[in-house]
Amino acid sequence: MIKIVTILGARPQFIKASILSKLFKSSSDFKELIVHTGQHYDFTMSQIFFQELKIPKPHFNLGVQSKLHGAMTAKMLIKIEKLLIKIRPDFTIVYGDTNSTLAGALASRKLNIPVIHIEAGLRSFNPNMPEEVNRILTDHSSTYLFTPSKLASFQLLKENFHKDNIFNVGDTMLDVYLNHKPQIKKISKKKFKDLGKYILVTIHRAENTMSEEILKNIYLNLELLSQNYKIIFPMHPRTEKILRNLKLYNYYKSTFNLIKPIGYIETMSLLEEASLLITDSGGMQKESFYCKVPCLTVRNQTEWPETVQSGWNRKTKIKNKLIYKNALKSISSKGKKTKPYGSGNASLLIMKKIRYLYNKVKKYENSV
Ligand code: UD1
Repeated sequence: MIKIVTILGARPQFIKASILSKLFKSSSDFKELIVHTGQHYDFTMSQIFFQELKIPKPHFNLGVQSKLHGAMTAKMLIKIEKLLIKIRPDFTIVYGDTNSTLAGALASRKLNIPVIHIEAGLRSFNPNMPEEVNRILTDHSSTYLFTPSKLASFQLLKENFHKDNIFNVGDTMLDVYLNHKPQIKKISKKKFKDLGKYILVTIHRAENTMSEEILKNIYLNLELLSQNYKIIFPMHPRTEKILRNLKLYNYYKSTFNLIKPIGYIETMSLLEEASLLITDSGGMQKESFYCKVPCLTVRNQTEWPETVQSGWNRKTKIKNKLIYKNALKSISSKGKKTKPYGSGNASLLIMKKIRYLYNKVKKYENSV
C-alpha cells in the first residue's frame, strides 16, 4: 500500500487536488490522508469545493487561520510535523504556492519524507510576491517536481534541479475543467446566456489590495466599463475586508454586481458566457484560456506566459485609464489555439509516476 499525505489549505488547492484524490480513492494500492491546514475556512472558500467536486473529506483539520505570514506558516509547520511523525507516509504531496504548500514541504523534507510538488517550476520573477517566495522555497525543498508545462520544466533545469526528478505532466486544473465541462456548459446556458454583456472580475492579491490608491483606480476603470457591461465581481474575503476598512465597499457595491465567493462550477459557468475576465488570480488566467474567453491580468508579471503568447491573455499596469483601455482591446481580440498545458490527464500521469517511483525505491531497498 502506498501511503500518501496530501496537504491542502487554500481554495485553488482543493480544485487542483480533486481529480488525483478521487483516483487515489478508487485505486486499491493507494491510501491518501488529506490534511487541511485551515488557511481558508469560510464555507464558500473551502467546504463548497469538497462538496461539489466530491473530494474525499479531510482526515485532519489543523485550524490554522489568518495570522501574519510567518506566524501562519510556523503554526502549520509545527502541526504538520507532528502529524507526519505519526503517519510516516511514503510521500507528501503539496500543490501550488500558498503558505500551506511551503509549510507542508518544509515539514516533510526535514523528516526525510519525499516531497512531491505539483505545479512546480512556475516563476513570476517578482521576489516581493509572497507566492513567489513560497514556490521557490517549495521547489527547493521537494524531491519530485511535477510541472504543468515545458517552460516550467526548463526553468527547473536552469535552477540546477536534476532532470530525473522533473516530470512534465500538464496542468491538473485542465483535468478538472474537462471533467466538468458538460455540466459547466449546461449551467452556463441555462443561467447566464441571457444575462446580457458582462465582465467577470476577481481581485485578491496582496499587491493589488494593500493600497487605497490601487483600489480607487480599479474602481474608476471598472466604472467606465460598467457603462457598457455589467460587472460581476465575486469578492474574496480579503478584498471585502480591506474595502470595508477603507470605506470603499459601498462605492463598489452601488456600482457593480458584488457577490460572495462562489463555487467552482458556478465560477466556470459564469466565465463561459463572459465577454472578458479581469483578474489577478493565477488559476483563472488559465481557466479563461481553456474556455477561450479573453483575459486581462491586472499584474505586471504572470506565471503563465503561454496564455499571453497565445493571445488570449494580456497584462496591464494599474495606472490612469489603462485597465479600461486594455479591457476594450482584449474584448475585441481572439487568441490562437495552442496546448501548452498537456491534454487533461495530468492527475492520472502523476498517479502512475508515483507508483513507479515507489516500486523503484522498494526494489532498491530489497536489493541492499
Ligand atoms: C491565498 C494564497 C494565494 C492564493 C489565494 C487563493 C498565500 C500566501 N496566498 O491568498 O496564493 O491565490 O489564497 O484564494 O498563501 N479569509 C477569510 N475567509 C477565508 C479565507 C481567508 O475571511 O475563508 C481572509 C483572511 O482572514 C485574511 C484574508 O482573507 O484576512 C487573506 O487570506 P490568506 O489565506 O492570508 O490569503 P489569500 O489572500 O486568500
